[in-house]
Amino acid sequence: MITWPVRKTLFLILCMLAFHVSFAQRNDGSLPHLMKNGTATQLMIGGKPFLILGGELGNSTASDMAYLRPFWPNFTEMNLNTILAPVYWELIEPEEGRYNFALVDSLIHSARAHNLRLVLLWFGSWKNSMSCYAPLWVKTDQKRFPRARTKDGRALEILTPFSDENRNADARAFAALMNHIRSVDGKEHTVIMVQVENEIGMLHDARDYCEEANEWFAGQVPAGLMGYLQKNKASLIPEFRQIWQQTGFRSSGAWEEVFGVGLHTDEIFMAWYFGRYTDYIAEAGKSVYPLPMYVNAALIRPGYRPGQYPSAGPLPHLMDVWRAAAPQIDFFAPDIYFKSFVEWCEKYDRSGNPLFIPEVGNNQSPVNAFYAFAQHNAMGYSPFSIESLGNPETNPLTKAYDVLTQLAPLILHNQGHERMVGVLLDSAHHKTRVKLGDYAFNVRHEYSWAYAHKSEGEPPRFGGMIIMLAPDEFLIAGCGIIVTFEPRRNNGMIAGIGRIDEGRSIDGKWTPGRRMNGDQSHQGRHLHLPGHTYGIQKIKLYMYEYGIQLMEGNDEEELE
Ligand code: DGJ
Repeated sequence: MITWPVRKTLFLILCMLAFHVSFAQRNDGSLPHLMKNGTATQLMIGGKPFLILGGELGNSTASDMAYLRPFWPNFTEMNLNTILAPVYWELIEPEEGRYNFALVDSLIHSARAHNLRLVLLWFGSWKNSMSCYAPLWVKTDQKRFPRARTKDGRALEILTPFSDENRNADARAFAALMNHIRSVDGKEHTVIMVQVENEIGMLHDARDYCEEANEWFAGQVPAGLMGYLQKNKASLIPEFRQIWQQTGFRSSGAWEEVFGVGLHTDEIFMAWYFGRYTDYIAEAGKSVYPLPMYVNAALIRPGYRPGQYPSAGPLPHLMDVWRAAAPQIDFFAPDIYFKSFVEWCEKYDRSGNPLFIPEVGNNQSPVNAFYAFAQHNAMGYSPFSIESLGNPETNPLTKAYDVLTQLAPLILHNQGHERMVGVLLDSAHHKTRVKLGDYAFNVRHEYSWAYAHKSEGEPPRFGGMIIMLAPDEFLIAGCGIIVTFEPRRNNGMIAGIGRIDEGRSIDGKWTPGRRMNGDQSHQGRHLHLPGHTYGIQKIKLYMYEYGIQLMEGNDEEELE
């Protein structure tokens, strides 16, 4: 006698097989997918690259459509083009094998009605390390769905990744979700990407100490990991390579033989098995509907040890381990809540990993997005708890995303070709010098200029992007920066400002506004994007021989 849940599971498997065949045959690029453009990796939708100007919903917001409903108009008013929204395992599968996709359907329907795309976040086995979104039938059956354990043997509210039962239950639900999305959205592609789990990582201890984990920790490092490390030895992330170097790059052995004894090895071990588990789930989903899939990471607070911070997540120093363990995961993404935005962008824009920022603290300046798109070819940017951002009319994100919407075609065209730079300035870094083509650009914080309008307190974060349109023509966009120009090489020439126009880019076409050659550019001495708003200015430069350049001289006033 075949019981109902078993019948339902068999049915799903058959559906998956059928769709797997049809999608394998239809691998023609019509689905959202990732594609290289020079050194950048871009998200392609309908044959065109897409820049995600996103916002992520607060955790509970997508569990009640009535609660979410009033916020949709705000999202379009804020110029967002994508919402990142959770899908909760416990709500789509309240009873084993019985699925309810009403919330997902409503999300898709509302997003479409507001001309928005969706990135869905699978709150499955893990959400911020914990297993709080596992269904009650999982939580209450500890025998069948075992927990991770601390070093002293205590069970945690964290499903262990060393259990096939845990993994398979999650994978079945995830495949059912992807199957449903395929059936309701396989043509329209409102859903463009999926995050598998949320901020995976081990807490309390650096690794799980359940019985299976201990057994596997005593075993050999799997050939899959050893093979990857040997093959990619020259290009491994430097901080990871350094660890392996300390054992003379041992090519086999138990975990502590290959990587040494310490929390770092506990973390590497755990990263491998978190990666394998997540890969299995992603593969189950992709086999029915192969959208791009990524995992996100909670970052490390300065001075914290593995286990104090969520150990073994897709962190920069573990990217190689995750890549070897989880080939179905397309990239690793940072959730940036720290001020050190630049540092984390740099750490994730390495070793071929494309930068996508699914979460950034919504108290951070949206000028970060200009920097990430230009300097790191970011695929997307998304403040967290977007619905709580307040009045779209006065919110700085609205204006920043308006400018980025105008520039998106140009940004996408230039990503990956060394024709753009991004800058971020604050009180600790109030000036910088960047180079593009034949010119060097000295960019400084607006507050270093005597005539700037300053607000009280800590100087705000300012910055922007410079896009080279032609050898002597540049678009500069952002807020709160003053830019002067020099020839890049010491060729005895001086760089002069031919003209500056402010303007808008409409459907990718530049529409000039005011000519800014007077007070607005300090009579041709510099380009100035005021700090109280976001704007775009186009500048034509030229070079002239051996003059005496009018310097800004006593206008200079350094930030304290
Ligand atoms: C990061 C998590 O990924 C989010 O789901 C949410 O918990 C935020 N932290 C809260 O700051």
